[in-house]
Amino acid sequence: MTMKNIAAGDVLAERTTKEIAEAEGTAQMGKGKFIALEGIDGSGKSTQIQYLAERLKEREIRCYTTFEPTYSPIGAVIHQILSGRVKTDNRALAALFVADRMDHLLNEVNGIAPMLEEGITVISDRYYFSSYAYHGVDMPMDWVISANSQCRDIVRPLATVFIDVEPDTALERIAKNRFHKELFEKKSRLIQVREKYLEAFEKQKDLENIIIVDGNRPPEAIAEEIWGRLEKYFL
Ligand code: ADP
Ligand code: TYD
Repeated sequence: MTMKNIAAGDVLAERTTKEIAEAEGTAQMGKGKFIALEGIDGSGKSTQIQYLAERLKEREIRCYTTFEPTYSPIGAVIHQILSGRVKTDNRALAALFVADRMDHLLNEVNGIAPMLEEGITVISDRYYFSSYAYHGVDMPMDWVISANSQCRDIVRPLATVFIDVEPDTALERIAKNRFHKELFEKKSRLIQVREKYLEAFEKQKDLENIIIVDGNRPPEAIAEEIWGRLEKYFL
């Protein structure tokens, strides 16, 4: 399949964690399930995470929702860079995201890995595919993938759900809600980031369970499709 042939609704290498683990010799940590939501800014990730968390709660599945960049001290530096208050080189920013992610995974207070060990399902608004896509615009994607390889070895998502939205639509949604534009929210940038996401999915399709949904629809319809694709993991 070439990059251009990937469309919303396609399932790239949708496989069970067990199959992926067997193929790769690595397993998802613990008993909890880890789902990552991905998409360009304004694609509706946080909205969909709320719907998904609601479904899980209805089924009495213990669930923790989280996001990247985090509110850790490393995340705080990242937020200052994204808002333009602090300047740095793009490569330094990409490395900071790796550090923030490692802390997100491993810190003892609310780290993802300890949660999964406890049997809690974790849903994250962004994970390493955000790095592949956003930093892949400025530097070789393989460098970014390799810089994140330890995170992938620690926790690989059971599924990465990509909400695919037209950059124009995403920007309209953002404009309704925010007073300032962050570093990555310009249209040309969002077009490039979306393309890099698709490139990353194609590159990683044998290693990852990637679910692409059409995000240019009402939130309820998107939530319905996401649950339809994920339900089998929670039976
Ligand atoms: P993200 O977390 O990806 O940045 P949000 O979930 O915060 O996106 O959504 C951005 C804005 O768009 C919010 O105001 C939200 O209410 C709105 N929104 C989310 N999903 C949809 C949708 N499917 N259709 C229209 N508006 C949406
Ligand atoms: P945020 O305000 O949280 O955006 P959103 O609500 O759209 O997720 O800002 C996160 C920004 O950081 C977003 O533009 C994507 C970018 N980002 C990276 O550049 N690299 C990364 O590894 C991650 C996780 C996010």
